[in-house]
Amino acid sequence: MTDALDRLRRLIRDIPDFPKPGIQFRDITPLLADPSGLALAVELLANPYRGKYIDLVVGAESRGFIFGTAVACCLSAGFGLVRKPGKLPYKKIAKTYDLEYGTDTLEMHADGVIEGQRVLIVDDLLATGGTMTACIDLVKSLGGEVVGVAVLIELLGLNGRDKLDVPDVHSVLTYE
Ligand code: PRP
Ligand code: ADE
Repeated sequence: MTDALDRLRRLIRDIPDFPKPGIQFRDITPLLADPSGLALAVELLANPYRGKYIDLVVGAESRGFIFGTAVACCLSAGFGLVRKPGKLPYKKIAKTYDLEYGTDTLEMHADGVIEGQRVLIVDDLLATGGTMTACIDLVKSLGGEVVGVAVLIELLGLNGRDKLDVPDVHSVLTYE
């Protein structure tokens, strides 16, 4: 297992000072381009939720779409989109959340979750937890049961996990 995780870690490229000075950007594009690395990442995200009766995987635009749909296929679940403002065509609900500096908004279709559905939220990366908190609030406000949250990368220093009011937070790789 350690070998597998080391292999994934080697496929994530560190870019200093992107998009702003002081930010160490964890670039997943080499991992996405690697056939066995991509398959392994998706497997390790999905495995803890096999047999947990997940009805719907929800992911936020845009990197959450990549891993979320793949995990949904693994779990024989559907996929629900959380999008940046102004992209969704039907009736929608919105949640404004805090960034490190300022605020942002995410939206979901009003029928994007059916009441009582068991939902897993997937993203590539958990940093401050703002994006994930907004996703959790959107799903819960539509009556979904958030069974857990799965991310490929967790940035431990930002304590995002502490903000998440969910029964389970699963991260494949952690960075200090
Ligand atoms: C990134 C990442 C997560 C979020 C994590 O998305 O894919 O969704 O930031 O940060 P947080 O925990 O501080 O909210 P971004 O908003 O950069 O959008 P992108 O996927 O379109 O690049
Ligand atoms: N999203 C938020 N923080 C990030 C980081 N350090 N690297 C990649 N994506 C991010």
